[in-house]
Amino acid sequence: MTKTTLPRHVAVIMDGNGRWAKQHKLQIALGHRQGVEALRAIIRESSDLGIEALSLYAFSTENWRRSPQEVEALMGLLLEYFTSEIDELDENNVRIRILGDKDGMPPKQRAALVSAEERTKGNTGLNLNIAINYGGRAELARAARALAEKAVKGEIRPEDITEDALSRELYTAGQPDVDLLIRTSGEMRLSNFLLFQCAYAEFMFPSVLWPDFDLNEYHKALEAFGSRDRRFGGRKA
Ligand code: FPP
Repeated sequence: MTKTTLPRHVAVIMDGNGRWAKQHKLQIALGHRQGVEALRAIIRESSDLGIEALSLYAFSTENWRRSPQEVEALMGLLLEYFTSEIDELDENNVRIRILGDKDGMPPKQRAALVSAEERTKGNTGLNLNIAINYGGRAELARAARALAEKAVKGEIRPEDITEDALSRELYTAGQPDVDLLIRTSGEMRLSNFLLFQCAYAEFMFPSVLWPDFDLNEYHKALEAFGSRDRRFGGRKA
């Protein structure tokens, strides 16, 4: 794997924790817990490989509709993760950004997310974006609103509202677009994840369930990315 063919920004929809738990006759919460083990390894590898940005879909705005027990288990895991991993992530120069509406989170979780962002804001290694209480359409509406407010105040003119200006109002401001999107468990949907940022992403849908997505699977996806012919709407010379 050579650095030139590596994606700059990898996005992952970590799907299949529930099915993994069912397969192993375990409670769903244990599927999510095993999912956290998988994500630890992928974060470390992305950082070691020098990938610029890694975006993980941890909790969508639609996930609140799951049973109270499952929501509670996920909220517990999030709090545990941000408490137990923050030292190592910070030591590894990882910069954490939360994509999504932190204000809609329970107070303890909100505080942990804000503190992780604050503590790592000076780091210059991997940009680790964790989407929590996130929806892609809501992100676009929020960006449009921010630009409209600037226009009303006279800070910008309507013609200043360009693709770049919009992109600067997204949670991922300043980061490259997504090059590679991986969704595990064989489902082939974007599910409202990074709609704007994935405009030219290569999509991969490995059939393994997220807790089984190991470094071998990650390397396979990265190798396959390197051999894809990306034209961005143009033609190959
Ligand atoms: C999809 O599997 C996965 C989720 C909805 C949650 C992903 C969350 C984690 C891996 C853990 C929490 C994250 C952090 C950053 C600590 P599913 O439950 O929809 O699987 P299924 O389709 O097989 O039921």
